Amino acid sequence: MSFRIQPAAPARPNRCQLFGPGSRPAIFEKMAGSAADVINLDLEDSVAPSDKDSARENIIQAIGDIDWGKKTLSVRINGLDTPYWYRDVVDLLEKSSDRLDQIMIPKVGCAADLYAVDALVTAVERARGRTKPIKFEVIIESAAGIAHVEEIAAGSPRLEAMSLGAADFAASMGMATTGIGGTQENYYMLHEGAKHWSDPWHWAQAAIVAACRTHGVLPVDGPFGDFSDDEGYRAQALRSATLGMVGKWAIHPKQVALANEVFTPSEKAVTEAREILAAMEEAKAKGEGATVYKGRLVDIASIKQAEVIVKQSEMIAGH
Ligand code: COA
Ligand code: MG
Repeated sequence: MSFRIQPAAPARPNRCQLFGPGSRPAIFEKMAGSAADVINLDLEDSVAPSDKDSARENIIQAIGDIDWGKKTLSVRINGLDTPYWYRDVVDLLEKSSDRLDQIMIPKVGCAADLYAVDALVTAVERARGRTKPIKFEVIIESAAGIAHVEEIAAGSPRLEAMSLGAADFAASMGMATTGIGGTQENYYMLHEGAKHWSDPWHWAQAAIVAACRTHGVLPVDGPFGDFSDDEGYRAQALRSATLGMVGKWAIHPKQVALANEVFTPSEKAVTEAREILAAMEEAKAKGEGATVYKGRLVDIASIKQAEVIVKQSEMIAGH
């Protein structure tokens, strides 16, 4: 084991990130009134090129005017391969109130992408005397992004969260699908003539979680496109939570409750975790490093597993 202590990720809830196009200001108040922990006002792919300027103005206005409560307020800027992104950054930082918490950088491909945005943000912050540093979040949604995921996770001290963007990721990888996340019809194993579906997103998610946990960043699952399929969303979210992700996007308000339910540790899970901690306290008092809880082995590693659940639950309750 490395002598380095794994850094903690930011201690704020990130169970659901609700998106809305910057070109649709009529829904901003509804977003603010939702139960999402994070709000993502979008300047990128949900906004048509002809609307980029007006969407920017709508968002800058709304950052100051709307009561966003305790939510983390984030704006998704345009990608570094477009002519829009520098204006997004400059206008957001020069003109918006300091209620803005975070900028989401889409389609990152290497750590230098973060460096470039960081340099621009830092210059505008200094020029304008902004005292609250803007945080970053990124989307891994390309072959380059996943190939360089670890250097990206280490790419800026501003970085707080990293999401998997299934649709652009699938396109960049040349995957034979048009779905946004979820089960893929053709991704199955055959066993004795029966099909068993596998999860084509699994390896990318696991790579993101490992990179994030190494560098103290929150790993987040991205969008699930079919918002009429609650069970499909729940199944995807449960898999993500099992792998160590802390939340998932909502691209429709009905997905917010689904995410909050999955990513809030259940009372049953918290009770069991507390019982494991108590059983290990007893074992320690007797000078033992392992004991039996409900017929199964628990040891010092179980303390760490149980603490993940208890700490997550306390952090959410205390926020
Ligand atoms: N946030 C908050 N409220 C929203 C919303 C959102 N993202 N999307 C829709 N609503 C509201 C609608 O205004 C409507 O409110 P009402 O009951 O007061 O009239 C209600 O929720 C139901 O909306 P519905 O008619 O089912 O959806 P829609 O056809 O208006 O919009 C989408 C559907 C998918 C176009 C819209 O949800 C959307 O733009 N989502 C975000 C897309 C995005 O940002 N993508 C980028 C990230 S992948
Ligand atoms: Mg995308």
